[in-house]
Amino acid sequence: MRNIELFCSDSHRFVLLNESSPGEEEGVRSNQFLIVHGNQGVLLDPGGLGVMPHVLAELLRYTRLEDVVAFFLSHQDPDVVGGLVSWVALTTQARFYISALWVRFLPHFGLETSGRFVGIPDDGMECEPVAGMPLRFIPAHFLHSEGNFTLYDPTARILFSADIGAAIMPDDYDEPYVDDFSAHLPFIEGFHRRYMTSNRAVRCWLANLDGLEIDMIAPQHGPVYRGSAVGQFLDWLRELQCGVDLMEAGGRFGDGR
Ligand SMILES: [Fe+2]
Ligand SMILES: [Fe+2]
Repeated sequence: MRNIELFCSDSHRFVLLNESSPGEEEGVRSNQFLIVHGNQGVLLDPGGLGVMPHVLAELLRYTRLEDVVAFFLSHQDPDVVGGLVSWVALTTQARFYISALWVRFLPHFGLETSGRFVGIPDDGMECEPVAGMPLRFIPAHFLHSEGNFTLYDPTARILFSADIGAAIMPDDYDEPYVDDFSAHLPFIEGFHRRYMTSNRAVRCWLANLDGLEIDMIAPQHGPVYRGSAVGQFLDWLRELQCGVDLMEAGGRFGDGR
């Protein structure tokens, strides 16, 4: 599948880099998103080591490596940071934004963490990695990681939601957008009930979105929500019982009723 420009204006693009076709990525297929403003770019959740060469090749269609000024890492999972050592080595100036909770674990990759890694505080932050391109890091703790952020791009009005909204689609499924939320629900329900920590965490994240104008929700896995599917997904999520809400002795997860 080709790359998809979710938003495009004269100076600003929000691109889904569709490097991973079925079977190409061992493990869970993931989306990588590149925001380009002017000539400079920010890469969101760059992915595992296996996809790194393809992500790099697709990224170079839009910007030069030396113009990638920042990376956003929503959390610490291997499908987010597996290629980190290579990206750090290739981009000598770029900064890497990740929850302050996870910065202390980065030395285990053999990385020197001072200077280029920015620990995002628990209550989030705004930053402008490229002049004229503000970004907001929105707390999404325990959805699913203890230190977890989503990213809002007010220029594109797109919310990168990391694993929130993620879908595990059949290998031959190639539709880039969710237009029919009820048809999409079977692909997200089980994942969210087991991986998302609790309804309380969900409600906190939804409160953090208050006032944002969101045209699309772009998750790290599966298709992008747009149109009425955005509100329908958030409404479904608000009522979701998940994680510790459902946990029972013996390791089982009940149905929440
Ligand atoms: Fe994850
Ligand atoms: Fe993920």
